[in-house]
Amino acid sequence: MLNGEKKIARPLRWAMVGGGRLGQVGYKHRIGALRDNTAYQLVAGAFDIDSERGKDFGINLGVDENRLYPNYKTMFAEEAKREDGIEVISIATPNGTHYEICKAALEAGLHVICEKPLFFTSEEGEEIKALAEKKGKIVGVTYGFSGNQMLLQMRAMIEQGKIGEIRVVDLQYTHGFSATEQGDKTNAAQKWRVDPKVAGPSFVLGDLSTHTYYMSELIMPKMKINRLLCDRQSFVGSRAPLEDNAFVFMQYENGAVGRLWTSSINAGCMDGHRIRIVGSKASLEWWDSKPNELKFEVQGEPIQTLIRAMPYLDESCNADERLGALHQEGLSESWANIYLKFAIAIDAKNRGDEETLKNLVYPDINAGIEGIRWIENCVRSADNGAVWVEYENKKTVLV
Ligand code: NAI
Repeated sequence: MLNGEKKIARPLRWAMVGGGRLGQVGYKHRIGALRDNTAYQLVAGAFDIDSERGKDFGINLGVDENRLYPNYKTMFAEEAKREDGIEVISIATPNGTHYEICKAALEAGLHVICEKPLFFTSEEGEEIKALAEKKGKIVGVTYGFSGNQMLLQMRAMIEQGKIGEIRVVDLQYTHGFSATEQGDKTNAAQKWRVDPKVAGPSFVLGDLSTHTYYMSELIMPKMKINRLLCDRQSFVGSRAPLEDNAFVFMQYENGAVGRLWTSSINAGCMDGHRIRIVGSKASLEWWDSKPNELKFEVQGEPIQTLIRAMPYLDESCNADERLGALHQEGLSESWANIYLKFAIAIDAKNRGDEETLKNLVYPDINAGIEGIRWIENCVRSADNGAVWVEYENKKTVLV
């Protein structure tokens, strides 16, 4: 149970790059980091590509005016001169900027919390991983839904054999907000998402399915994909080669099969993030529109709905409990949970506490790199005519 009491000796001095007044995701970072008053203090920022707007915004957030900077480079340089300078930054800017900001932050001796998809290529990911190791710093990735503790319940039940051998993995993350072309021209956050120079090699595969793919890894850490086939479409033609819809079929090492549907043209869909794991004895199902519930369906028995915060849940699940039974939790608590784990990881890294780091389950740089690999595999399959490709030695080989 979490109640805001300190988990680290003192709050980390934290700053944001991006996530400004008009940014979509910035507030989620602040909700996550500042939920526990004891984990982070927001002390500086380069919040916006428009530096004046960023400064005005920072003042309204209560940040010291002298620590609101026109850009991240100035922030890193100026903060390094202070005894009470920043220790960790969050990057909440469009995809194409993550790599350079992350690299500059690590070189400036800062820990990094970065948005997904982490970078454009897995080579960039490996380079940044090596740099982070050299500098003794953490890179966390904000797969924001993954802090929901019912996913840890799924992980525990699968590990305990409650559903038997996994046979089918059914993943979906879809919405309909890009069903028409209109937003590509009028909505700033939509515009860059369909521009390969800023979004990278994919649209929905990176924007949506990296979340779901990571959550599947979190739930089923032992399941490894052998081969996959991806078919991607640009129903709004001007988005090509970036897809607004994709289907992926997976074959796992243990003989299980999977499918993932990701889409931003699923018109009218408002509850499109679902995970169903089918085992030889039973199935588990979770969707983010009902995050307090987990369906446990044993073949031949009445369907059970497991409810958040109840004592019958696994210890690992209830360790991340905040509000108690009868009171609904959601995305805010999920972000708070991952931000708290980033803080614990940063503190452990600073103290050289490798034992804590080894046992902490959170989206780290490896999870970010696996997300990039997922996209690379999907794109290569799709762009070769939707063919099966093999995950081999961490590279994709056409078959
Ligand atoms: P957005 O376009 O709504 O906001 C971007 C923000 O970054 C704006 O405030 C903009 O002024 C600022 N910015 C851009 N370049 C900058 C720079 N060089 N320096 C400082 N500020 C800069 O984008 P959105 O939707 O918030 O996405 C940002 C990132 O977050 C993307 O990588 C996206 O994939 C990810 N994202 C993640 C979500 C999650 O659940 N984890 C949800 C939504 C987005």
